[in-house]
Parts: sequence; C-alpha cells; structure tokens
Amino acid sequence: MIQKQFELSGKVAVVTGGSRGLGKAIARAFAEAGADVLITSRHEDDLKKAADEIGQGLARRIEWSASDMTNREQVLQLAQTALKRFGRVDILVNNAGSNFPEPIDKISDEKWDLTMELNLSSCMRLTRALVPQMMERKWGRIIHISSILGVGAKEGRSSYCATKAALIGLARSSALDLGPFNITVNCIAPGPFLTDLPMSLLSDEQKKAFADRTAVGRWGDPKELAGPALMLASDAGSYVTGTVILVDGGALARSL
Ligand SMILES: NC(=O)c1ccc[n+]([C@@H]2O[C@H](COP(=O)([O-])OP(=O)(O)OC[C@H]3O[C@@H](n4cnc5c(N)ncnc54)[C@H](OP(=O)(O)O)[C@@H]3O)[C@@H](O)[C@H]2O)c1
Repeated sequence: MIQKQFELSGKVAVVTGGSRGLGKAIARAFAEAGADVLITSRHEDDLKKAADEIGQGLARRIEWSASDMTNREQVLQLAQTALKRFGRVDILVNNAGSNFPEPIDKISDEKWDLTMELNLSSCMRLTRALVPQMMERKWGRIIHISSILGVGAKEGRSSYCATKAALIGLARSSALDLGPFNITVNCIAPGPFLTDLPMSLLSDEQKKAFADRTAVGRWGDPKELAGPALMLASDAGSYVTGTVILVDGGALARSL
C-alpha cells in the first residue's frame, strides 16, 4: 500500500525550532505518521506547550530540550541528549533559523556571525553529530529548511540569503557522502508562510506583495509544508536526495 511508504512508526525525529511555526507543523505531521519526536528551541515554556499540542490525541513520545543553536556546546549537547533519551535519531530537521535584515553596506559583523551560526553552522554541527549512528543502521533522513531566498534573493537580505543558499550546497555534498549509507539529505525551500518570523519583519504592503507574487495569490499555512517534509522523511522519499524542493505557492515561477 502506498500509504505505508509515508509511515514513520518506530522512527525518532529531532526538529529544531519545533516550538512554533514551520517546525511545530512538521513535528506534528511526523508524530501523526508514527514517529517519536524531540523538539528544541530556546524557551522552555514555549517548548512544553508545543510538545503538549504536538502529542495531543496521539500515543507518541514527544519530548523537548531547550538549546540555543548559536551556542556550539549546546548544539552538541542536544545531539547527546536526543541519543541518550531515545537511543537513536533517524530523522533530523534543521529548521531553527532567523533573519536580521541589513543592506550590504550596513551589515554588522555581529549580525552576520549570528546568522551564519544559527542558520548554517549549527545545521552542519548537528548533522555531523547525528549521522554516525544513522550510518551504522544504514537509514537516515536529513532535511535542512532553506528558503526561496536561498534560490532567489531580496534586497537587504544578504546574510540570510547567503546562509540559505549555503544550506543547498551543504545538502548536495553531504548527500554524496551519505548516499552509500542509505541516508538522504535535502533542502526544503519555503516561500511565504504565515509564521511569526515574516510577520514580524514585513509591513502590510510587503505582506500583500509576497502573496501577490505567488501563483495561488496567498500566504502558505504551515500545515502545507508538512506533506513535502513527510515525503522526504519517510520511505516515500528514498530516491530523492541532494536536492531542493520548493514549497512556495509558485512564487519563484514568476519572473516578471
Ligand atoms: N515563514 C516563512 O515564510 C519562511 C520562509 C522561508 C524559510 N523559512 C525558514 O523556516 C524556518 C522556520 O521559520 P518560521 O517561519 O517557522 O519561524 P518562527 O515562527 O520564528 O520559528 C522559529 C523557531 O526557531 C527557534 N529559534 C530561533 N532562534 C533560535 C536559536 N538561537 N536557537 C534555537 N532555536 C531558535 C524559535 O524558538 P525560540 O525563538 O523560542 O528559540 C522557533 O521555534 C527558518 O529557518 C526560516 O528561515 C521561513
């Protein structure tokens, strides 16, 4: 049965930035598909609440661990915590990320370094820490959440665009390293999704312009990212690796 290919029973997933927005929607989808899930972000209260909501009505183990992905020590501790608590991690979603808009002539070293650490370096570190045990079992799934701004660009977003494009390179090369171990590595490049991150950055006029740019004429609901993520995380995506899947309502289809 084709549905069976999308099942995650017996799998353990780690979703960074799982306390809200896209990460939370992905974590809920994985739990509904049968996975036990560990979510992480910086704020314990948000994590507790999100874990309850993700597990609602499901007989799954949903746990949380607070960690700041800009802190290298905490990134490594997160990997150890996940392995200690669950004994394995089969699926990693590197989703935690942020955007600190600054035009190229005004980029501060502080914001540049923060963006690199959070959006890019932490993804490499967590992947590096978790792939050895996937390699032993010869099964694994790594998903980096990139952006349409990793494929195209917007003014004032050089740091963000650089990290999101780099994630695509990271996925391509590491997919080649890990293919022989039956581990896939891919990026999802979301378009405009209704979450706190873009809502806090954009004016009403910009929000309308983002919606108008898509083919479907609206912002995405975080739940609309769950299906593509589940495909990549499950056996359904076993021959998809080293690539980037645009989930953008057609935003990048428009060139004029
Ligand atoms: N929404 C969109 O339209 C869109 C489009 C393209 C790409 N994306 C990408 O999708 C991912 C998720 O974005 P979102 O829209 O869901 O954003 P969001 O609603 O702001 O959620 C971001 C998540 O990351 C966590 N986080 C932020 N900084 C962190 C840090 N230093 N350490 C650990 N966790 C941290 C947040 O929790 P705390 O703040 O409590 O730590 C939260 O759980 C990001 O990588 C973003 O770049 C989003």
